Amino acid sequence: MSRFSIPSSSPKPPGQWISSAILNGFALAGTNAHRLYSSEEAWVERFGEDLLLSYKYDSARDSLLEALPEWMEAHQLSHRRIFGKLLPLQNEERVAPTLIEGDAALPLETVVEENGIKFGLDFAAGYSAGLFIDQRANRAFLRRSGARRVLNTFAYTCSFSVAAAVAGAETTSIDLSKKSVDRGRANFLLNGIDPSAGHRFYADDVLELLPRLARKGEKFDAIVLDPPTFSRGNKGRRFQVENDFEELLLLAFEVATPKAKVLLSTNCTRMNRRTLETIARFCVKATRRSGTFHCEPPLPDLPAVFAAQTLWVC
Ligand SMILES: C[S@@+](CC[C@H](N)C(=O)[O-])C[C@H]1O[C@@H](n2cnc3c(N)ncnc32)[C@H](O)[C@@H]1O
Repeated sequence: MSRFSIPSSSPKPPGQWISSAILNGFALAGTNAHRLYSSEEAWVERFGEDLLLSYKYDSARDSLLEALPEWMEAHQLSHRRIFGKLLPLQNEERVAPTLIEGDAALPLETVVEENGIKFGLDFAAGYSAGLFIDQRANRAFLRRSGARRVLNTFAYTCSFSVAAAVAGAETTSIDLSKKSVDRGRANFLLNGIDPSAGHRFYADDVLELLPRLARKGEKFDAIVLDPPTFSRGNKGRRFQVENDFEELLLLAFEVATPKAKVLLSTNCTRMNRRTLETIARFCVKATRRSGTFHCEPPLPDLPAVFAAQTLWVC
């Protein structure tokens, strides 16, 4: 049983398009992967030349498809394709996006930019194309953190590792999926960084590898913990974020330098920032660490209620 109370759901803001000023800010920053529109029922992400429309109901998709051309024209934006993705009630029903509009003969792989860093996307790879834009501010925080040795757990396509490596850090990335780790290496190469020079990639179970790293005496001065809500590890071991985040953070502290920056992040709708803070406070006290808490401000294109819940322990 989790020791934490379940947060009441936060009120969702009405649907909104981003402003021209925000769009200009992205252009200046070298970012072409961001939200264009957000609402409770549907949202639109821009991924370079392509758009991805995620929707809960067909009617929400259809109204957005109707509104899009006028908004794009008013903001002098063009696109080559629109992909659509149904947001299912059950994770098991998740499927890759499908092409709604555009040339079906074009490759489904593409490259986008965030603050000048390149990331490869693949619309055929599955439910997620390769970059979670709601972590943009946390990637930027890590990049400017000054961390020299960075551990990225549940690394997926290693976007946090690339952000740290661009700033000169040595990185260690762990993900169960070999395919994701290989895409991570490709993201390093896209940015002109040799993935074999000071960077390690493990296709392994985080909960098994962390104790091994601790036994070897490894220490990191930044650690990213962004686990899925539920997963089954290498040996069928279950991970359930509400119950197991505390154990994960305690394991992470064993490989953390005393002043390490540790990111706690979750998409579990039954947890919020206060839940993360409760976990962090307990673990900081239990390990007699000194820890302050830091949250990056909400993204300009993405209301906080639609983003992952995150907290840095510094
Ligand atoms: C939410 S995604 C992480 C997203 C990533 N932090 C980012 O910002 O791009 C979760 C990832 O955890 C991986 N995963 C799930 N259980 C795992 C485990 N026990 N050990 C290692 N990786 C695991 C999945 O393969 C998936 O890539």
